Amino acid sequence: MKLAITGKGGVGKTTIVTLLSTVLRNKGHKVLLIDADPDMNLATVLGISPSTKITPIVELKELIAERTGVEVGKPAPFFKMNPKVDDIPEKFCVEHKGLKLIVMGTIRNGGGGCACPENAFLKTLLSYLMIARDEWVILDMEAGIEHLGRGTAIGVNHMIVVVEPNMTSVETAIRIEKLSGELGIKNLHIIGNKIQDNEDTEFIKNRVQDIDILGFIKSSNTIKELSRETGQSQREIDGDSLTQIEHIINRLKAIPVESAN
Ligand SMILES: Nc1ncnc2c1ncn2[C@@H]1O[C@H](COP(=O)(O)OP(=O)(O)OP(=O)(O)O)[C@@H](O)[C@H]1O
Ligand SMILES: [Mg+2]
Repeated sequence: MKLAITGKGGVGKTTIVTLLSTVLRNKGHKVLLIDADPDMNLATVLGISPSTKITPIVELKELIAERTGVEVGKPAPFFKMNPKVDDIPEKFCVEHKGLKLIVMGTIRNGGGGCACPENAFLKTLLSYLMIARDEWVILDMEAGIEHLGRGTAIGVNHMIVVVEPNMTSVETAIRIEKLSGELGIKNLHIIGNKIQDNEDTEFIKNRVQDIDILGFIKSSNTIKELSRETGQSQREIDGDSLTQIEHIINRLKAIPVESAN
């Protein structure tokens, strides 16, 4: 199953990726996590120590140059759009408590849509990960889905938009819904996060009537405390949040999978 998690900044995407992966791993599933947010912080939220060296894929300059057929640092008017990537996951992922993590990294100069060898390499790798791998793949995305190419979207079985009980995050979700149609993404869902009371769930239900709601995650003191233990936490999120996520995973498993085409 391939999941992409998106939503407005700060709504809890990375937290939910961590929760989903914890529950799936505890159930014995193989999980590969992809940090595709230029503001890479999934490793920190997972509790990986800052001393663990993680090379973002985009920084593998020589390898990217070799695979795309250009010289490092030279202008690259022509390069291979389909470089070899199938050996990258095993070589460059980090393992942490039974989870695998790949960090994509930021493309400097030119932004996400630039026609440069780095971008071609990252896009090919993402598409490969979303299509060829036979494990749970969870993509932690930057806010919005504009940067998600059709190639990647094809492999996504479920696109999950995280919303908080406020108007701005709901507006982002509605905008993403419109874009998802253009990208051919069929299974779009919402997870309501940081829920404090019934009023919060009702607000989200009323505002996003057209989008399937997978479930709600309560505002949690444990999550809040853990978010302050940057990087070396031995603890993991437990209790209610995991139970709420388990219901969400069961719902996902019950939905017939139909990826975009
Ligand atoms: N259910 C929750 N209860 C309490 N705090 C939460 C909950 N979910 C997320 N948070 C807190 O909200 C903050 C933002 O969460 P997170 O980093 O997961 O969001 P994000 O959407 O990935 O942000 P960004 O857009 O910066 O990547 C963090 O401090 C996190 O601990
Ligand atoms: Mg995040």
